[in-house]
Amino acid sequence: MPNTHFPPKGFSPLPYQEAVNAALVCTKCGLHATRNKVVFSDGPVPCDILCIGEAPGADEDAQGIPFVGRAGKLLTQMLLSIGLKRPDDVYICNTLKCRPPGNRTPEPKEILVCLPFLVSQVDAVRPKIIVLLGSPAMKTILNPSEGITRIRGQWYNLNVSYQTQPVRVMTIFHPSYLLRNPSSKEGSPKWLTWQDLKAIRKELETLR
Ligand code: URA
Repeated sequence: MPNTHFPPKGFSPLPYQEAVNAALVCTKCGLHATRNKVVFSDGPVPCDILCIGEAPGADEDAQGIPFVGRAGKLLTQMLLSIGLKRPDDVYICNTLKCRPPGNRTPEPKEILVCLPFLVSQVDAVRPKIIVLLGSPAMKTILNPSEGITRIRGQWYNLNVSYQTQPVRVMTIFHPSYLLRNPSSKEGSPKWLTWQDLKAIRKELETLR
């Protein structure tokens, strides 16, 4: 069974601006030594929909804005295809706020020391829907026993301790994965993601 509560025990949200300020000067893991910019977020606070990716890549590290490179351009199009325009309609952030060298996968201890920032973001954004982009974000929030191919496209309710309504959470494939798997024939990752995006749009309409 995936997690049904957020944040994990022992975490409580810092006020948003304090979290932003702390992230900008954070040295809690080794990634601070190689980053150019801390990549905190893009989009308004609060916001009905919150997307969580993996970690900044080279373009994001240079600009300080999440999802602005090739994968970001695809994400922007995917969101637009369901009527969500950046930066006004979606709040976007990553599991890690600093780029791992060579875009390697985030390490569990990096995710753990960065988690207080994500806790503050979920608290301040007060989303109705959280979209998890790829496996590291899925593991950080839901920690399911199954992999992403089983979990994607499914709705989970997450009880966020400081919100009255449960937040609806869906995992979808990461846009970088879709760039590596360009087929859009029925049953392909791209095709499945289009089904997921339509389900997200439908859910957003019922919640609004
Ligand atoms: N991939 C991510 O997960 N996040 C970004 O910001 C860019 C690429």
